Parts: sequence; C-alpha cells; structure tokens
Amino acid sequence: MALDRIRVRGGKVLRGEIEVGGAKNAALPMMAAALLTKESCRLRRTPLLHDVLTMAEILRVIGTDVRMEGRETHLQAKQLSGNEAPYDFVRKMRASVLLLGPLVSRFGFARVSMPGGCAIGLRPIDLHLKALKAMGAELTLSDGYVEAKAGRLKGVKHVFDQVTVTGTINAVMAATLADGSSIFQNCACEPEVTAMMDLLKSMGAKISGEGTSEIRVEGQTSLGGFDVDLIPDRIEAGTYLVAGAITQGDLFLRGAQASHLEAVLSKLRETGAEIKEDAEGIRVIGRSPILPTQIQTAPFPGFPTDMQAQFVSLLSLAEGTSTVTETIFDNRFMHVAELQRMGADLRVSGSTVTIAGVKQLAGAPVMATDLRASASLVIAGLAAHGTTEVLRIYHLDRGYESMETKLAGVGADIVRLKEHS
Ligand code: EPZ
Repeated sequence: MALDRIRVRGGKVLRGEIEVGGAKNAALPMMAAALLTKESCRLRRTPLLHDVLTMAEILRVIGTDVRMEGRETHLQAKQLSGNEAPYDFVRKMRASVLLLGPLVSRFGFARVSMPGGCAIGLRPIDLHLKALKAMGAELTLSDGYVEAKAGRLKGVKHVFDQVTVTGTINAVMAATLADGSSIFQNCACEPEVTAMMDLLKSMGAKISGEGTSEIRVEGQTSLGGFDVDLIPDRIEAGTYLVAGAITQGDLFLRGAQASHLEAVLSKLRETGAEIKEDAEGIRVIGRSPILPTQIQTAPFPGFPTDMQAQFVSLLSLAEGTSTVTETIFDNRFMHVAELQRMGADLRVSGSTVTIAGVKQLAGAPVMATDLRASASLVIAGLAAHGTTEVLRIYHLDRGYESMETKLAGVGADIVRLKEHS
C-alpha cells in the first residue's frame, strides 16, 4: 500500500464518462462538525479516501462512534473519552486542526498538535488560534501541542488577517455554540465553506452571509444532528477535465457543478479545449494545438491553487510560453522538478513558473510529493511518449478515489503496481 506505484503508458485518447465523487474538503470538516452535537449525524456520498479514513480514526480515538457503511458515514459524539488530536494524526493530515473549534466550543478544552511543516510550505494555524483567542479561548503552547481552554466562548467581531478555508470553518463552528453573536470578515467563500454553513444551519445554527466574505453567527446552547449529501469534488472533476484536454479526448464528468469551477473552465477554454456544461455535468473535448495562457491562483472564485499543478502539466505541451503564479502557498512547485525529468521546459522564479511549451514529454519514473503534484504527474504520463511510473502514490490516495480505475475506464493504459511487485 504505502509504496504502491502507478504505471502509465502514454498516448491513449480518453473517451467516456467519469462519475465525480463527494468533495474531500467538505467531508473532512463535516465529520468534525459531528462533535458539536450529541445527536446522530449522517453523511452520504462519502468518498473512500485516505484522509477520510484518517479523520474517522481520529474521531474514534476521542470517543466518537463512527460507522462507515459503503458511502454512508454515521457519526455520533454522545460524550468523549479524550479531546486530543495527537501529533501522529496531525502529521499525516493537517485538516485534523478542524477538531479545535468544535472541541473547545462543546467541551471547553482541546489539545491539538501543531502541524509539522507540511509538504506545501509551513502552513501554520495562527489564523485559527487568533480567532479562538478573540472568542475567549485561553491558548497555551507546550511540546508541539496547542491547548485551548474556555468556559463558554463569547461571540466576537473578528477580521481574518488572511483568507483561510479551514480557519473560517473552525471559527464559525466554534461560534455556533458561543454566548452571543459573532461577525467574521475576510472569510473564505469556497463552495466547501458554503456547504459547511448549510450543514451547520441544518443542525439549527443561526448563520447568514455564507458564500460572502462576511459571515454572521448567533450562538446557540445546543445543536441537533445532520443528514446531508456531500457536494461533488470540484478538484477531482477539474483534474479529469485536464486529463481529457491533454489527451485530446472527449470526457463527460457526471455530477460536476460548473458553478464551482468557473475559473478553471474559462482557463481550459483559453487553452483551446471545448467545454459544454449542463445540469448533469461537464463535458470537455480536447483540441490541438494546446494554446498557452497566464494563470494566477487566488481564493474562490479565483483560480484554485489545488488545480495549479495539473495546469502546469497541460501547459507543458502548449504551443507557446505560459506563466503560472502561485499566490496561496509558499512552496507548491514540487511537481516542477519531476516534470522537467519528463522533458518539460519549466523555469521557476519566486512564485511564478514560466512554461515554454514542448512538442512532447517522455515517460520516466517520477516521485509524488503532495496530493495535487501527484495528480499532475499522472496527467503528464497520460500524454507522454513511453512509460511513466509514479512512485509513492499514497499521496494520490489521500484525495483521489481509485484514480487508475476511473482513468482505465475511459481508455487510459494505466495500472497500479503493488509495492512487492
Ligand atoms: C484548504 O486548506 C484545503 N484543505 C486545501 O486543499 C487548499 O489547498 C486550501 O484550503 C486553499 O484553498 C482542506 O480544505 C482540508 P488555508 P487550508 O488555510 O484551509 C496560510 C488539497 O489538496 N495560513 O486556506 O489548510 C497557509 O499557509 C488541500 O485538497 C496561515 O498562514 O488552507 C496558506 O498559505 C491542499 N495561517 C494560506 O494561508 C493559518 O492559520 C491559505 O491556507 C492558516 C493558513
């Protein structure tokens, strides 16, 4: 499992339909939200991803009843046996920080390991802590852990120094049980944040402004359970749209919501791909030549950082020079060195990579690093001449359910090689 690798033989044109799964970055906070109530909670269309299993494990460790039946996840936190997110979990998954808000707000205490330096930059949690402190939590740092204590949190008016997706979610979750009303400004507007606000409202939380940069919350004394369908995973959908474009294929992403991907769809059109969207999903028809473009990542509705690596692969084969600027994370170009091994002509200076399109890429053994960088290497392998082996694909399994099966189903020559083979 840990050292499985994926082998792709490039040059196949992808044609057919792929079903989009539930959104990982909505599932993780929604699972944490079960801590806000002692009632039973149900999450439908749960993606079977490593990160989801890790979140389930952490919740069980602190006493939450978590049962996964197929894609239905049942959770109930009647009372807890602990309130600590141990380093071992946080090291594997930074999203463990999402336990902080619910634990402090419902139980008055939380102990969460500081996330180690993640693959994509240092990614601290200072913005989360600042919001909780503003609500009256007492924070202490000791041996790599942050402890947060509070009698009952108080409503607050708080402006985030920087847009943070899980920071916004953590603060709003804490505010739902605080004493009084809160106003949060400079909030994230990602679809996963909006989906979380809808979930909290279905639990009885009083929230307004979701989807805008100002979210208002009236604290309650308790919340009910939830029973929700997950929104589709826009990054999974975007990743396969790029796979269709780079192979000059014709793919239909069933369940993809265009309103979650406007910036990605418009950039795909700029590279020459044809995009058709309807209530059922999104169709991409790849065209040759691939045209160059300029991309700058930004918070939603801007171009998502989680699609940056995938577009670097696509633009490596464009007819002309493109630039991609990463403004969200400070070290999210790990895929560049690996793509250069495949013959891509890339130059990084500061937060911008300049891409001089080449006629073709050559298959090679490459190393996966972070989740989306791994996806970009598979995408490059689909179009490269020869065989590409992507090593350490546990990174991929964190955020993509059976990628090789979905791609093989639309014509890719791709297999997963078990570590001993
Ligand atoms: C969420 O991470 C996503 N993860 C990420 O997806 C995504 O890349 C990111 O948002 C940006 O869209 C989940 O939702 C589980 P941030 P998050 O807080 O919330 C800095 C994937 O591939 N920052 O919005 O952790 C941070 O370093 C993952 O699915 C602080 O400085 O990201 C980054 O530079 C990767 N202090 C920027 O803000 C803080 O307290 C945005 O981070 C928090 C963040």
